Amino acid sequence: MKRSRELRPLSSEHHQALLVAFQVKKGLEGHPEAAGAPRDLPGLLALARRFERQVFAPHAAAEEALLSPHLSTPDRERLAAEHVELKGLVEQARHAAPGPQRAALAAFAELLERHVRWEERELFPWAEAHLDAARLAQIGCELEERLVLSGQGPRGATR
Ligand SMILES: [Fe+2]
Repeated sequence: MKRSRELRPLSSEHHQALLVAFQVKKGLEGHPEAAGAPRDLPGLLALARRFERQVFAPHAAAEEALLSPHLSTPDRERLAAEHVELKGLVEQARHAAPGPQRAALAAFAELLERHVRWEERELFPWAEAHLDAARLAQIGCELEERLVLSGQGPRGATR
């Protein structure tokens, strides 16, 4: 996917998000090739929680602070609602018995993938087309600071 330099810190985390979604799905299926993911439920829950805390939470906060003010109302609401839902699914999985825990993790992986694809295919192209260069540059600088320079960026999830 072609992406403007300014939004690249978000896009590189989207790649991580898609990998986590893939690992959780394959892990839940007990698939032999789960891209290095754990296949037991506690391991998958730990993966989802670590991702949520280290990557997703600062990522979602940055999108809401920097992009949301420029979005249409429906897009802004969808962005926030899906962020809340994703966090909620991890919390739900954390406190559930094994059966519902599997279901919550599966729903988390499914929504995470759908959410990222929406942002990459619709939301970011829209922002790139409608925000002026100065605004995009400012967003880019703040993203660097929040996601890359803070150490919560692309390498955060593997620590
Ligand atoms: Fe995102």
